[in-house]
Amino acid sequence: MKERAENGMLREGGTSGRRITVVGLGYIGLPTAAMLATHGHTVYGFDTNPRVIEHLEKGKVHIEEPGLLAFVRDALHSGRFVPVREVRPADVYILCVPTPYDEKAKRADLSYITKAAEAIVPHVKKGDLVILESTVPAGTTADHLGPILARSGLDPLRDLDLAHCPETVLPGNMISELTSNARVIGGLTPNATHAAEMLYRSFVRGTLVTTDATTAEFVKLIQNTYRDVNIALANEIGMVAGQKGIDVREAIRIANLHPRVDLHAPGPGVGGHCIPIDPWFLVQDTPDARLVRVSREINDGMPHRVVDKVRSLVKDVEAPRIALLGLAYKADVDDVRESPAVPILERLKEHFDDVRVHDPHVKDPNFDTVPLKVALDGADCTVIVTGHWEYSALDPHKTRSVVRTPIVFDTRGIVSRPEWEEAGFTFGTL
Ligand SMILES: NC(=O)c1ccc[n+]([C@@H]2O[C@H](COP(=O)([O-])OP(=O)(O)OC[C@H]3O[C@@H](n4cnc5c(N)ncnc54)[C@H](O)[C@@H]3O)[C@@H](O)[C@H]2O)c1
Repeated sequence: MKERAENGMLREGGTSGRRITVVGLGYIGLPTAAMLATHGHTVYGFDTNPRVIEHLEKGKVHIEEPGLLAFVRDALHSGRFVPVREVRPADVYILCVPTPYDEKAKRADLSYITKAAEAIVPHVKKGDLVILESTVPAGTTADHLGPILARSGLDPLRDLDLAHCPETVLPGNMISELTSNARVIGGLTPNATHAAEMLYRSFVRGTLVTTDATTAEFVKLIQNTYRDVNIALANEIGMVAGQKGIDVREAIRIANLHPRVDLHAPGPGVGGHCIPIDPWFLVQDTPDARLVRVSREINDGMPHRVVDKVRSLVKDVEAPRIALLGLAYKADVDDVRESPAVPILERLKEHFDDVRVHDPHVKDPNFDTVPLKVALDGADCTVIVTGHWEYSALDPHKTRSVVRTPIVFDTRGIVSRPEWEEAGFTFGTL
């Protein structure tokens, strides 16, 4: 089957011109909605946060992501992406709402999915396709979403096509990865899998891998757990290396020359909406799963290690001024969710009276940031917590001329140790 949209951008075999309501226009939902609209579909974008819709109505976006603004504007100008304040009836519903971890209950908080599903219940009709993109514990589509949709009077297995299609895009490169990444597509029934596959085929160039909904949910969780456990291993190796006076990054670089070794990089902790959370979803019903829990503990403990190290680096400085560079959880994004910089900042403030924070990307009013010059001015310890390009481009000689004490602590391994040492800096590593 080969179908073409007016803009000629449809992929071979994809279904064209569907009416789609995307529920939740955040980091995942917004680029997905715009992508579908630029591939021949009519997309209603619904979000419960009025600020999100107001931004779109003014041709703006509320999140920072390279290329997103222009991409969304194209979609809006095409007339096929329509921000809406109430759920619109459609033939396809895609749910991209948050799934935070409920620390108290030690479980995934599915309340956003419940509300999103309840919002579409009055609109779903026989034959509609409902896709859950949010990351969830295995079994959620079948056991949680299905029963809510059944309140419509429709049978989620026979009357609807219900599927889980996890999102795996990398913030900072989302628009390209939305089309190029392989997608896992898991329906509750073979029909549902096929219907979802046809939709994704309309814009995805990567491989479409089909399976059942519960396996698709599980796959997403084990991908992020793999990352988390490997980062924990690198952090543990870093601790041992530090005690023996070994440069852990150099040791890992050499170890990775072996064809069957691929160690991750140590860092100040793990952040973002996925890696620190998804391992908990994986093991929430499996108390015997120890490695995953210990890895979480190791990574969650990294901010403490960072602050302990800062304290030891400035132990001889009277009333030290700390420059904290970076709040976002990863390089070149504005996202502070679960960012290790946040507990690092809190703990630094417990120990030091003068902590100045800089992040060129984060515009969150909850954080008092200052310009880079102000952060570095008179600093006694410059702590790089996020690998933003602005920090890897820092000139050690110029920095030396503004700080009071030449101590730099690079938790990300983004600046050149020899260059900074040559400029007179004491160089701290994890
Ligand atoms: N951000 C990522 O890099 C990423 C990557 C892969 C998967 N995911 C998963 O995708 C899901 C969404 O993540 P995100 O980063 O886009 O979250 P987000 O917080 O950026 O966006 C979610 C949006 O949903 C809206 N919302 C909440 N409840 C709603 C409701 N009932 N109806 C309509 N809108 C509602 C919020 O206002 C918000 O704008 C999560 O499950 C996350 O784990 C995220």
